[in-house]
Amino acid sequence: MTDLLETLPDTPASALRPAEILIVDDTPGSLQLLNDLLTGAGYVVRVASEARMALRSARARPPELILLDVRMPGMDGYELCQHLKAEAATRDVPVIFLSALRETGDKVRGFALGAVDYIGKPFQPEEVLARVRTHVQLYRLQTRLEEQVEQRTEQLRVSARQLREKRQRLQELTAFLQSVREDERTSIARELHDELGQALTALRIDVGWLRKHCAPLGSAVVERADAAHALVDNTVHALRRISEGLRPGMLDVLGLCAALEHLAGQFGERSGIACHFSADRDEYALPDKGAITAFRVVQEALTNVARHAAARRVDIDLSAAGDRLRISVRDDGCGFDAESPRQGFGLLGMRERVLMLGGEITIDGSAGTTVVVSLPMTTGETA
Ligand SMILES: Nc1ncnc2c1ncn2[C@@H]1O[C@H](COP(=O)(O)OP(=O)(O)OP(=O)(O)O)[C@@H](O)[C@H]1O
Ligand SMILES: [Mg+2]
Repeated sequence: MTDLLETLPDTPASALRPAEILIVDDTPGSLQLLNDLLTGAGYVVRVASEARMALRSARARPPELILLDVRMPGMDGYELCQHLKAEAATRDVPVIFLSALRETGDKVRGFALGAVDYIGKPFQPEEVLARVRTHVQLYRLQTRLEEQVEQRTEQLRVSARQLREKRQRLQELTAFLQSVREDERTSIARELHDELGQALTALRIDVGWLRKHCAPLGSAVVERADAAHALVDNTVHALRRISEGLRPGMLDVLGLCAALEHLAGQFGERSGIACHFSADRDEYALPDKGAITAFRVVQEALTNVARHAAARRVDIDLSAAGDRLRISVRDDGCGFDAESPRQGFGLLGMRERVLMLGGEITIDGSAGTTVVVSLPMTTGETA
């Protein structure tokens, strides 16, 4: 046991100070004998010649071991042991019974009451010292282990709280970045549309006029004018596509359903994958940022279908379930292991966006891929 104590790191100073032992015995001779023996071995000894005094002493300052005589007038050792084990302050203090009784039944009763050991009278000094040393060390070891478990549990609690706080801050940062990103995209889309778009439209009109009036200058000039007109036309289309990709204007003007239906149509045309859209309402009342979140989630899910699924068909379904909007994007492609920790930023962004609004998301890649998102609506009514 000494070895065990020594192998434990950071042995506290308390393990080096002498243990305090309470001896309870009504026989003066026996009390004196034990007192001398234990004091001589370096222990700090307290004595009590009857049970009530012992109980008061143990309550006032719990010792590290109690040697308790079984037979005493008034309250006997068994009853005192019961009191000690019933009180929080003294419950864990090890009790060794002392008795001339050698009946197995008496020993069993002592152990049943919570005693750790039994020493028969008359005492063998070496045996008493050996047993006392063992139980003091055991008690100290147990107390230290409990303290360590408590410390580690507290450290763990603190770490868990810090982790929760960090995650919370990270989510707030993500929310901020997403919203900055959306604002930036919206403002770039607006600039493109308002500034470049207006200028290109004016240019298109002018080039159209020039094209009409340059016939007398010969076919080469007409050809050039035609090419310039076509170039301006293409640029106008490209600009519209880019600005629509940056911020789906349709979302602001016609609402989520129209914007998603349009997205589904475009996706089908561009990817060659049959894309079906259905909704059980014309519109859903979503909170601020709800519509753009829903749109971006479907957009990312469709991009993933085109990039990874090798699908032939994809279904986008919107339905109201209580005060939630349920969006499902399901493809019949190759599927994937959605539990795999190796995911890109697409799925991660999807999750973050949805969680930020108090929504839920599940991704099942076991048979094709199905992404289901549920977002809270502002009311249960249609907009
Ligand atoms: N519909 C799908 N069908 C099959 N595999 C998919 C589907 N959606 C996602 N995956 C798998 O999940 C992975 C993670 O998707 P995620 O959108 O997060 O990242 P990514 O598309 O690879 O890259 P990005 O960060 O540009 O979106 C993909 O690489 C792909 O293996
Ligand atoms: Mg992706």
